[in-house]
Amino acid sequence: MAPARCLLLLLLPLLRVLAGTSQPPLLEPCELDDEDIRCACNFLDPEPDWSSALQCTVAVDVEIRAGGRSLEQFLKRVDLQADPRQYVDLVKALRVRRLTVGAAQVPAPLLFGLLRVLAYSRLKELTLEDLEVTGAPPPMPLGATGLGISTLRLRNVSWAAGGAWLAQMQRWLKPSLLKVLNIAQANSLVLACEQVLSFPALTTLDLSDNPGLGERGLVGVLCPHKFSALQNLVLRNAGMETPNGVCAGLVTAGVQPHSLDLSHNSLRATPNIGDPQCIWPSTLNSLNLSFAGLEQVPQGLPAKLNVLDLSCNKLKRAPRLDELPKVGNLSLQGNPYLLAEASFLQENAMNSEPGMALACARSHLAVGVSGTLAVLQGVRGFA
Ligand SMILES: *[C@@H]1O[C@H](CO)[C@@H](O)[C@H](O)[C@H]1NC(C)=O
Ligand SMILES: *[C@@H]1O[C@H](CO)[C@@H](O)[C@H](O)[C@H]1NC(C)=O
Ligand SMILES: *[C@@H]1O[C@H](CO)[C@@H](O)[C@H](O)[C@H]1NC(C)=O
Repeated sequence: MAPARCLLLLLLPLLRVLAGTSQPPLLEPCELDDEDIRCACNFLDPEPDWSSALQCTVAVDVEIRAGGRSLEQFLKRVDLQADPRQYVDLVKALRVRRLTVGAAQVPAPLLFGLLRVLAYSRLKELTLEDLEVTGAPPPMPLGATGLGISTLRLRNVSWAAGGAWLAQMQRWLKPSLLKVLNIAQANSLVLACEQVLSFPALTTLDLSDNPGLGERGLVGVLCPHKFSALQNLVLRNAGMETPNGVCAGLVTAGVQPHSLDLSHNSLRATPNIGDPQCIWPSTLNSLNLSFAGLEQVPQGLPAKLNVLDLSCNKLKRAPRLDELPKVGNLSLQGNPYLLAEASFLQENAMNSEPGMALACARSHLAVGVSGTLAVLQGVRGFA
């Protein structure tokens, strides 16, 4: 079988031919919805019928989870130098726009081979989840096209390459198209910044759910001068301690976001003694400090903001004007002092504070898991 065709098999993966005719598994690993939009495969069977994924070729949203197994066996079928012309038309015909690959131990050459093939597809969003990437990446073949995705998400992906992974992966992308980068549950977020090229289009960097990151860690991941277009920085549940400390991290890294999300961190209201007062980037106009356990408005906030979210904290009295920045849009729902007021107004049917308190409580329970999970759990609670 021609190597290029094998690459395609790996992607789709059309492996019945290679696996021989296997018994139909008890549980269908793949499910395609009636509208041909979503297709999800979960290969839990010890002898998975990979060909079942064939039905996903018509879907727009595809999720493939490999049951936590090693994909080493596919490695010998990959030839990165193969001439792509043989499979380009086929890959172009795929409808997939969003792809999730998860739950596997995958050799780097296999993963990067997949990226190379996908470069000919119309994929826009790629998510890698619960992966252990082993071995060294291959050199990028001459003349190969980068993968033109706008969103890249990684959750719980570990790399044998350590901090060099982003620089390596970037070489297989079109960095000028990437707008959103999301890195959660990373083993290590000390990137090899000197190898990273700039991301001229990247507007959103989401580092949520990295509780070990901390303010000091920010400098290791916000590679200076590489994120010059950054507008939204999301640091939910990322081990941040004080707004002032985050400010210092931003200044050191030279990033100038418009919005900063520090929700779901255990924030302290007073800066560390001896820390110099930090000047926030002048671009910053939205700051999210919700679910941060704050008992008072933190010191050292920007002087002026369009949006300040202080909801679901532990404020015991209404903040004084001199404690707050000049704010266009201030949110204080779900703080104890409002709840106390609300209990006097129980007759008032329009009052929504008790509902808000419930929402805050439920979400507080889920802190440390993930914002998304918290929302999901909230939804399930009502189901
Ligand atoms: C993270 O991924 C590994 C596989 O690489 C898996 O064994 C582990 O259970 C995952 N952790 C979580 C919290 O999902
Ligand atoms: C602030 O963060 C919380 C929790 O992450 C979210 O629910 C809320 O919508 C955010 N507020 C704004 C103004 O974006
Ligand atoms: C304030 O935020 C709310 C909800 O996000 C939005 O509907 C409203 O337009 C905002 N107002 C201003 C003045 O920014």
